Amino acid sequence: MDYKQYIKIVEDWPQEGIQFKDITPLMDDGNVFKSAVDDIVTYAHKKNIDLVVGPEARGFIIGCPVSYALSVGFAPVRKEGKLPRDVVKVDYGSEYSENVLTIHKDAIKPGQRILITDDLLATGGTIEATIQLVEGLGGIVAGCAFLVELSYLNGADKLKGYDILTLTSFE
Ligand code: PRP
Repeated sequence: MDYKQYIKIVEDWPQEGIQFKDITPLMDDGNVFKSAVDDIVTYAHKKNIDLVVGPEARGFIIGCPVSYALSVGFAPVRKEGKLPRDVVKVDYGSEYSENVLTIHKDAIKPGQRILITDDLLATGGTIEATIQLVEGLGGIVAGCAFLVELSYLNGADKLKGYDILTLTSFE
């Protein structure tokens, strides 16, 4: 399916100079959203996934239906101060913010095969930080799946050696 037509570009959001890619029209259409989730599930089936991990907040939107379809768990990666028990954390930067991401220390068992999901690969800062958290807990990053890649921001350069699926790309 051509998913690009369901991504709306919003100029100067959340700050001037940023062309925000809004995925809500894609989610709004049940058939299109299901097709996107199904494509990621098909990809994940080949990878023996034990657990899906997704960063706040839009990584949850993609990751939770995928984990449900795979009958595996979902572990949230959240910004600092949101998870209630012991966490590990990492500083990161993305296209328009600097922040800290955290995951519960016991979210991943060493050796588990992890699928990381997010809506968007932009600079790659968020996914790089998420990979650091997963690997720091002994997880194996078996794949990373995104709805959208902004290839002009070269995020894929940070993912050399990892297997990536992107459903559509903006050049
Ligand atoms: C957005 C998006 C990705 C990340 C991509 O999340 O959902 O997680 O930025 O950018 P990067 O590749 O440059 O790191 P954001 O931090 O805006 O959080 P949100 O999903 O909670 O809005």
